[in-house]
Amino acid sequence: MTVKSDITKSDSNGIVLSNKRIAETFYQLRLEFRQQAANAFAKAKPGQFAQLDISKAALPPAEKMPDHLQDSANRKILLRRPFSFSDVTSEGDRTSVEILYCTVGPASLRMTTLSPGNSVDVIGPLGNGFSVPEGKKRAIFVIGGMGAGPLIYLAKSLTNDLPDMDVIAFAGAKTATSLPFKKRLDGLSQELGFSLAEFAKFGVKSIAATDDGSAGYEGLVTDCVSEWLQKNRPPPDDTVIYSCGPEKMLAQIAKIAEEWNIDCQVCMERMMACGIGLCQSCAVECKVDNSNETAYKLCCKDGPVFDSKEVIFR
Ligand code: FES
Repeated sequence: MTVKSDITKSDSNGIVLSNKRIAETFYQLRLEFRQQAANAFAKAKPGQFAQLDISKAALPPAEKMPDHLQDSANRKILLRRPFSFSDVTSEGDRTSVEILYCTVGPASLRMTTLSPGNSVDVIGPLGNGFSVPEGKKRAIFVIGGMGAGPLIYLAKSLTNDLPDMDVIAFAGAKTATSLPFKKRLDGLSQELGFSLAEFAKFGVKSIAATDDGSAGYEGLVTDCVSEWLQKNRPPPDDTVIYSCGPEKMLAQIAKIAEEWNIDCQVCMERMMACGIGLCQSCAVECKVDNSNETAYKLCCKDGPVFDSKEVIFR
């Protein structure tokens, strides 16, 4: 669907620059845009997303098909899929965006066959993105699995724009192999405080947590954050939490942020049929102005980033 009314969005073709497998089920796709689309994507904020049409991408050969997707692989891809950006880079009249994805279903499986030079129909950038509230000097990232993408881009953006901001990232997953980072197997140590390369390159300290203890802190990433807060006691007025990951984790981090009186922004995920506020498929239940009343907001248009105090987690 073409968005004609908003010149900050672009409906155009991105050209595949690279599509690399970075770990067992994780890939990094880089798309390049030119001219008007390049201008639109150059302004993309961390937390914003694009809707990709993957329907024309081919299926991988049977021998490369993961067992868990053998049955669903042939399904037709009718809807676009939303992906946030893990990087945006501009040079001259060209902008490239990087998308971190995981092979979870037939659409992402088809994405693995995209190769340099292929064209992908993309609408974006969409949604609101993260913001920095006035007076914040410290940012704490709380990541669950594939939620890493927008926070890697936020690390780049914060360290560029606000070099005095103190940033630390906590990244959690079930096991070491489900952490979506390039160096997760050879680089992770059991020591708390190990820097994941994706954050270290921006000077951002990071701590990995795995439920089974196969890398970093053993336990839930939210428990790891709680322990860190107890030990470090950052001044709430100076501090902001940014989080992206499974909804259960976002609900827990919203609770922790409230207990510590720290501002917290959560990047929500929903099925998004249109991505531009038309189909109402992406409702997020929210509180109305701190009252007991509730109303539905649209993840694609009002979000995907929400103040954690506003969202009603079930
Ligand atoms: Fe259609 Fe949000 S995806 S309204």
